[in-house]
Amino acid sequence: MDEQTVATTTAFEALRCVDCDASHDPAEVTHRCPACGGILDPEYDLDAVTVTPETLTARPFESMWRYEELLPFPRSAAVSLAEGATPLLECPSLAEEMGVGAVYLKDEGRNPTGTFKDRGQSAAVTAASQHDADEIALNSAGNAGQSAAAYAARADLEAHVFLPDRAGFTQQAMTEVHGGDLRTVAGEITDAGSAYWDAVEGPSDEDTAGTESGGDPEGASWYSTKTFVTPYRHDGKKTMGHEILEQLDFRSPDAVVYPTGGGVGLLGVHKGAHEFRELGFVDDTPALYAAQAEGCAPVVDAWERGADEHEAVPESEITTACNGIAVPDPGASPLLLDAIEESGGGAVATDDHAILDAALTVARTEGIEIGATCAAAVSGAFALADRGAFGADDTVVLLNTGAGNKDVDTLRAHLGERETAGADQTETGA
Ligand SMILES: Cc1ncc(COP(=O)(O)O)c(C=O)c1O
Ligand SMILES: [Zn+2]
Repeated sequence: MDEQTVATTTAFEALRCVDCDASHDPAEVTHRCPACGGILDPEYDLDAVTVTPETLTARPFESMWRYEELLPFPRSAAVSLAEGATPLLECPSLAEEMGVGAVYLKDEGRNPTGTFKDRGQSAAVTAASQHDADEIALNSAGNAGQSAAAYAARADLEAHVFLPDRAGFTQQAMTEVHGGDLRTVAGEITDAGSAYWDAVEGPSDEDTAGTESGGDPEGASWYSTKTFVTPYRHDGKKTMGHEILEQLDFRSPDAVVYPTGGGVGLLGVHKGAHEFRELGFVDDTPALYAAQAEGCAPVVDAWERGADEHEAVPESEITTACNGIAVPDPGASPLLLDAIEESGGGAVATDDHAILDAALTVARTEGIEIGATCAAAVSGAFALADRGAFGADDTVVLLNTGAGNKDVDTLRAHLGERETAGADQTETGA
């Protein structure tokens, strides 16, 4: 890597290790902390940021790179497909049902490949291209893999994408349509992760006992755009936080409910909201709620136990159809639990039936198509409202992290089950 070729923005000072607090030069260090292996977080000198709410508002609302001064790389270097700048849609029926002042749905389904993952991959693939990578690689539940394949195509890079075989047809098919090297692995996202590490580091000693080995593993030179291995995914996703606050005229909502798997998006929203508060653009930051499916809820479980980190859910105990949040071993759970606590929020799990019902409710009462995974935020918000977590005047923002049409099979199957059970005329009044 040639140090001279890495273009960074003025305020982007360093990569800070969340574990040992070491500070690293982003021209030299590209992924985890060289000192301790910890997660690196891009750190900004906010005094060097010259934008104001007025100058931001004057800019066209067309991509997340309009927050260029708060991103690691300049817009001129961005590998972009006009990701971000998604609508914040008011949902009066949901507000009435939840008994709150207003509900807004941040519709990340409008992104180039249909999910919020595009924000993270735009930032991470920009880093890859700045660092002169030829090939990127990751494991994913599905959407991030599809997104990585798209951004790799945009940047003329190869993408190696490890997905569990439960990943949706669209995500698998589109990874290949974009020219990505799709590796489908039997099992869960954790199995796809093991296959990824085997390719990058070589099989573990246990796997190779009694066999001959030699040479570099095939993925030794791959540039990772994997969650919290690259420092840039949550940093790209923080623009969701910036946008929500800007779209509410630089006011913070009272609560944000987020369908949580690895927690990258929730940490991004937390970071973005704090940046805006430190810059003086807003007075407050929202309470953050992690919503999960009961069939895989390690973060909710840790939150309810008051633990500092999660306990992994055994694969045999995963029972949810919500692929994006079927993450049994979210490595960044300590950061996530801290962020939730600091924000004054919480965590909530609902079952798949309630989640898929919530997707139908939104589609029928608000006309908005939301993904099965994302509907966990809606059913989670209903459960929180029942518990009295929100005030009568509160503004609540729900993240629709992905487009409904990526999950047509799951949604339609649920419709079929409801019709069979004679329940079709219930909650939605349809
Ligand atoms: C649609 C959707 N929503 C939410 C998530 C969870 O992502 P996070 O890591 O931000 O918790 C995923 C991850 O795959 C996803 O695809
Ligand atoms: Zn460290």
